[in-house]
Amino acid sequence: MKTLIKNGTVVNATGRGLADVLIDGEKIAAVLAPGANLLGFDVAANVDRVIDAGGKYVIPGGIDAHTHMEMPFGGTQASDTFETGTRAAAWGGTTSIVDFVVQYAGESVLERYAAWQEKASGECAIDYGFHQILSDVQDSSLTAMDELVNEGVSSFKLFMAYKGVFLSDDGQIVKAMQRAAQNGSMIMMHAENGSVIDLLVQQAVAAGNTGPLYHGLTRPWQAEEEATHRAIMLADLTGAPLYIVHVSAKQAVAQIASARDNGQNVFGETCPQYLYLSLEDNLAAESDEWGRFEGAKWVCSTPLRAKAEGHQHHMWQSLRTNDIQMVSTDHCPFCMQGQKDLGLTDFSKIPNGIGSVEHRMDLLYQGVVDGKISLERWVEVCSTTPARMFGMYGQKGVIAPGADGDVVIYDPNGHTSIGVGKSHHMNMDYSAWEGYEIDGHVDTVISRGKVIIDDSAYLGTKGDGRFIKRGLSQYLI
Ligand code: URP
Ligand code: ZN
Ligand code: ZN
Ligand code: ZN
Repeated sequence: MKTLIKNGTVVNATGRGLADVLIDGEKIAAVLAPGANLLGFDVAANVDRVIDAGGKYVIPGGIDAHTHMEMPFGGTQASDTFETGTRAAAWGGTTSIVDFVVQYAGESVLERYAAWQEKASGECAIDYGFHQILSDVQDSSLTAMDELVNEGVSSFKLFMAYKGVFLSDDGQIVKAMQRAAQNGSMIMMHAENGSVIDLLVQQAVAAGNTGPLYHGLTRPWQAEEEATHRAIMLADLTGAPLYIVHVSAKQAVAQIASARDNGQNVFGETCPQYLYLSLEDNLAAESDEWGRFEGAKWVCSTPLRAKAEGHQHHMWQSLRTNDIQMVSTDHCPFCMQGQKDLGLTDFSKIPNGIGSVEHRMDLLYQGVVDGKISLERWVEVCSTTPARMFGMYGQKGVIAPGADGDVVIYDPNGHTSIGVGKSHHMNMDYSAWEGYEIDGHVDTVISRGKVIIDDSAYLGTKGDGRFIKRGLSQYLI
């Protein structure tokens, strides 16, 4: 199957221009001057399908490098399966995800990895890769790290919080970092000081402060800044590249910026929720049908922070200045009924997570419309940098000959209304983004040459998505 996307504005991280894109089979074959004949050969007359993208942007498919499909967590399991979650991602212009294999303390890393391959196989609508979570760093975990790098799993997430669930102590962290420094893999860090948070949570609950608002109040920015600093120091000690996930505090950004200024391979990821939502939203929400429990919709970690403290503003700015390199969703959806309500009388029992995999491209495009980031930066933080950061660039993250035919046609004159019953294909009984209106629209989504979203119709099939065997990071200084 040969497809020609005509008359569009091709936008890569490096710039934009009018061009036609020829996809042959699963790959981009050529990026041509508009309407061009190729050495006298009429391209448009010799393809199976022509898509007119006049007045629209033609961008590399989004890459969401932080999702948790069907993750067992918080006494339940994330409500999107690989099938439903990747389909929702496709609706929103995301053509690749990198999900997390979970290893809890005491479990075998390689057994868990095999189990996750089994879960995802034949289920995904789009291509998928894996990061590996390491919870206790056993000697066998270190050899597993080497094996996984060879399998195309070149990044490992560690946690400085969630005692008894995920937490690694500093010694375990250093061990994993030493191995990463040797085998070239990336350490990803959940940087929050868990023992401080555990104490504050215990004190809040004992004082009868059990509502969702206290989730944010017991995870202060100091706990994030301190852990971010500590992770950076341990990475410096060992020489491991370090990627801080879900950064929400401006003080943590400052730590990352300072490490980068010192020449360290330290990177930061933020999420749409830290760019748009705030602790004040939790406060304002206290009066609806769920009464004071409404705020559970936005319980995630790191938490939403006080808008009054300037974190949101600073986060957009850090995207512009490259103090923060990427935007992923940390898609970890739970329904209010039967999942979030596990914490109805105690916020610490609310499963942590927000679902956004469908909306990242749109929400960040709104940042372009609002003058917060450029069009090229949108493509960079949502597609190109994720590809480079996690060893997929060339295959993914760019409109160029030889790359996979993962292409989104985005309509800047279209419109998207987000919310249940509107744009909402995630398996959740609410939307954290209810009522958001976007001045743009995902029109067509092509995954390895196959049109999977066409004019608001889903044409994909589960099993279309293939495992992405990633290389080492292509982003290191
Ligand atoms: O609240 C969150 N972020 N849930 C998912 C797990 C994690 O820490 O990324
Ligand atoms: Zn985390
Ligand atoms: Zn996460
Ligand atoms: Zn449209």
